[in-house]
Amino acid sequence: MTSESVDSRQPTPQTEPRAPRADATDRIEARVDELLSTMTPAEKAGQLTQYFYFQLPAETEGEPALGLDVQAQPLMVEAALGRGEAGSLLFMTDPAEINRLQRLAVEGNRLGIPLLFGFDVIHGLRTIFPVPIAMAASWDLETIERGQAVAAREARAVGIHWTFAPMVDIARDPRWGRIVEGAGEDPFLGAAVAAAQVRGFQGADLRHPDRVIAGPKHLAGYGAALGGRDYDEVNLSEYELWNTYFPPFQAAVEAGAGNVMTAYMDLNGVPASGSRWLFTDVLRDTWGFAGFVVSDANAVRNLVIHGFAADLTDAGTRAVTAGVDMEMAVSDPAYAHLPDALQSGAVSEDVIDSRVRRILEAKLRLGLFDDPYVDEDHAREVLADPDHREVARIAAERSPVLLRNEGTLLPLDVEQLGAIAVIGPLADSKRDTLGPWVFDFDLDETVTVLDGIRRTVGERVRVDYARGIPVVQRVFPSMFDMFGRNRPADPEGFDEEAEFARVAEVADAADVAVVVVGEWQNMIGEAASRSSLELPGRQLELLQAVVATGTPTVLLVMNGRPLDLRWAAENVPAILDIWYPGTQGGAAVADLLFGTVSPSGKLPFSWPRTVGQVPMIYSHTRSHEPDNQPRRYWDETSTPLFPFGHGLSYGRFAYADLTVDPPSIPRHGTVTASVQVTNTGDREAAEVVQLYLHQRNGSASRPVRELKGFQRVVLPAQTSRQVQFTIGPDERRYWSTTVRDRVLDRSVFDIWIGGDSTGEMTDTFHVT
Ligand code: NOJ
Repeated sequence: MTSESVDSRQPTPQTEPRAPRADATDRIEARVDELLSTMTPAEKAGQLTQYFYFQLPAETEGEPALGLDVQAQPLMVEAALGRGEAGSLLFMTDPAEINRLQRLAVEGNRLGIPLLFGFDVIHGLRTIFPVPIAMAASWDLETIERGQAVAAREARAVGIHWTFAPMVDIARDPRWGRIVEGAGEDPFLGAAVAAAQVRGFQGADLRHPDRVIAGPKHLAGYGAALGGRDYDEVNLSEYELWNTYFPPFQAAVEAGAGNVMTAYMDLNGVPASGSRWLFTDVLRDTWGFAGFVVSDANAVRNLVIHGFAADLTDAGTRAVTAGVDMEMAVSDPAYAHLPDALQSGAVSEDVIDSRVRRILEAKLRLGLFDDPYVDEDHAREVLADPDHREVARIAAERSPVLLRNEGTLLPLDVEQLGAIAVIGPLADSKRDTLGPWVFDFDLDETVTVLDGIRRTVGERVRVDYARGIPVVQRVFPSMFDMFGRNRPADPEGFDEEAEFARVAEVADAADVAVVVVGEWQNMIGEAASRSSLELPGRQLELLQAVVATGTPTVLLVMNGRPLDLRWAAENVPAILDIWYPGTQGGAAVADLLFGTVSPSGKLPFSWPRTVGQVPMIYSHTRSHEPDNQPRRYWDETSTPLFPFGHGLSYGRFAYADLTVDPPSIPRHGTVTASVQVTNTGDREAAEVVQLYLHQRNGSASRPVRELKGFQRVVLPAQTSRQVQFTIGPDERRYWSTTVRDRVLDRSVFDIWIGGDSTGEMTDTFHVT
């Protein structure tokens, strides 16, 4: 499977040193042995501990998020550094501070062991990319890899060695706010996106000054929380784990990820962070993972809250024994009790040493013992690199999904327009344009939709803006509100009634209205579940007021999860899902609105009509009364509003001549499927050609369709391309409940190739 895209604006790839040779690995091992032989139990426990260290804005009022005392915390951590009893810190982005703390660590510990600095570099550090679900919607693996390579370059330049990303949790319930951080519902797409991100972050060699360790998270099943409520328990069969939730993790491990993070919740009755099955049997023994495991923040201490561990010593003992090498702790770590556990015999020295070994190896592989500090001037240069903004702009052009385009409203023709009305508070909110999980952003550089439209049309067209309504506050505070710039701004002196009335006036006077609706960035992400998918606040009313003027309306949706767009899907001619598009978002959106670039994103999830349908997946199985499948509810159809893989274009794509060769293969054989794709439209456009597979019978029931291949192809107007896929054992193998193992069944297989998961062009082959 490949992703193919052609774009002459791609920055030049950097050449990298090759992966370390065997003698380097031997040297690392010898050095680790030497260190381990002299370390005390407290020093070892320290290496296994990662502390939060916050750089909070001056105005922070010591809010007790995560039980954190923001005044006492830094002093406590610095004391631990002085004793040589901390292995890693998280949440620092200032290179000067990172150097200062690194010096405290190196000089404070008698063995001179440097710190690892970790951080949530989720979709960029200074240059902010579209949110991960948006990047996945590009189905463009090269762009995804290049984006995370830019993020890695910026992170490493400031002294961050390790990112808590990618989040590879499959998410099938959009009430769960963290759906925005992943690649959606599908394991095949999820696995491809996970591997591309790991390649982007890590490159070929971590000693390279532009790379960081990637930490796929959260093993495993976190996205299946009951009711979509973050942190609530998860009950998943092995069938679902092996076939749906594990593949992206396995792909990330096979791509060489250096770290894996645990998950907060109970998985089938055992806290994931204390599961020996997950971290030893599956991760190490089955997948051959060679890196180190970190707990999620406070997740080891939480083993007591779960009612699993008796106390902190027991929690530390059970997590470290299960295979959790490092504890991420806000304060008072459970792993500080490991020396007691060692003394009582609850844990063996061998276990502790093997965990410490993995941490020391990571530090040696990064070259930190030779050079633990960063060059602050270099950091400033890297953060200002204009090439990075260009990569972000390309990503923001390729991720939006054109959900609907009736008639010929889009693309807009500047020459035909006298006035454009831009409506909605999200149209001009820099902070919301960036989305959740960003901390070190530059608002001055951030381009909103309104900015993007104004810059594109210049003096040629009048642009009037009406915000209509103020931002809606979230109902409960979060940890992220500690970072002052993350709090939504309260518009001072905002006269909502007057502004709302102005909306109709402005829309009425324009030739086209562009309405931006969605969720405020702090309504999604961690601890941001919703029990409804409706547009928050009075946004539907706002949209209806604009449409009622009769002015042709384009709807832009700023979101990280599907929202209830049933009214819009019937009443608004053009709908473009722009997600949270990042630093260059507004510029990219303008390119798409005015047709400089054609939309090419495809949905990475099935878009439900209403929250009552969730979870809704395209890859369900058939059962009783299959012909009634779309009519499982009395009051709503059981089809999605927009299917998985859906996304329109300004090109027009015709599929023809599907062939499968050979028609019959043995169990370990491979077939080639090919199809002719033609852009019959009048402008160049990209199409994501998708292949779906169905096994007719076997040792278990198989989904009606499953994605098993995709290719992004760029086709000039009136040109054709032959697109080929191979379907071998890897595409057909699955975990069968009957056999309790992975199997390759003999069966007739159906394949479909098309532009979404409902494509009708089909053929079959036999596995005999
Ligand atoms: C908790 C989140 O679950 C995890 O994804 C994140 O990396 C850590 N906090 C650190 O911020």
